[in-house]
Amino acid sequence: MAHGRITGWATHLPERRLTNHDLAEFVDTTDEWIRERSGIAARHVDGKVTEMSTIAGRDALAMAGVDPTDVGLLLLATCSSDQQFPASASVVQHKLGLRCGAIDMNAACSGFVYGLVTAMQFTEGGVDTILLIGSDALSSVVDWTDRGTCVLFGDGAGAVVIQRSADSPTLLGWDLMSDGSAAGILSCEHGGKIFMNGKEVFRRAVLAMESAARNAMDRAGVTMDDITLVVPHQANIRIIDAAMKRLDIPREKAAMVLERTGNTSAASIPLALVDALDDDRVAPGDLMLMVGFGAGMSSAAAVIRWDPPSY
Ligand code: ACO
Repeated sequence: MAHGRITGWATHLPERRLTNHDLAEFVDTTDEWIRERSGIAARHVDGKVTEMSTIAGRDALAMAGVDPTDVGLLLLATCSSDQQFPASASVVQHKLGLRCGAIDMNAACSGFVYGLVTAMQFTEGGVDTILLIGSDALSSVVDWTDRGTCVLFGDGAGAVVIQRSADSPTLLGWDLMSDGSAAGILSCEHGGKIFMNGKEVFRRAVLAMESAARNAMDRAGVTMDDITLVVPHQANIRIIDAAMKRLDIPREKAAMVLERTGNTSAASIPLALVDALDDDRVAPGDLMLMVGFGAGMSSAAAVIRWDPPSY
């Protein structure tokens, strides 16, 4: 029986880039404060989920050599769809010339890993080719007068093509979790702006990342020593450091793009993943651990055996 594996990947960031210095011109903050507290130096803004997703999706399909009409399902992880409905996935499906079902998935910043686990189940169920995109444009719902949140977020998209062509499973273990009792600590009402209790998100995020990662590795039957690359949600360098410390994984194993992207929510893990793949940080057979957390509070982790196609 054939199994799903990643055969193409691409990302897109909107053109407009805001450095910390740019931000300091209209909010009461400094480059030093933002770098020290979050690890972020710049972010891209003014993106639209449908536009960023279309570009990343198109490039990922081209890399995989997949004709758009051969895609069997489009999954778009986002919590900042361009409109309430239709789903942004439907718009992207049309722009890319796909002839398949298309759905938005909202698990906030954990969305890409939720989508990856879901996509792998569909490939096991018989769908040959899936386009999975993680994209968010939180700059559209950030309160640009709130220095506690506006310095953290940015826009972007990352896409992977998953094809049913591996000899053995590549998703070795996973964990999806939600703790709705903490829904109030990070939220955005319809038509409103992001509300965040930063300290509480920070505290819970570290614990959620640790728990999700341990569960996924236990189910995969592997330990930290077996993992070559960790792809954590890029929210805050201090959260990543604290979680990696609890997991006893050295920082050098982490894929990092946070400094130049900020927190791009569902796009953050594919942006970091593609950056690491482009840098040849994994070889065939290596294990990767993707781990995210976000509003919900949602959390998700997946252990993936790297089984790239030979181009
Ligand atoms: N520039 C300068 N000063 C600031 C800024 C800023 N941008 N923001 C806050 N401050 C001030 C505060 O007003 C406060 O001042 P005070 O002591 O005079 O009251 C001081 O800095 C300390 O503020 P804290 O909130 O205590 O700072 P903290 O060290 O907790 O860092 C931060 C804040 C960066 C938001 C941190 O709590 C954090 O990263 N939390 C998690 C955020 C996160 O990951 N969110 C997204 C996760 S889920 C998702 O991705 C959708």
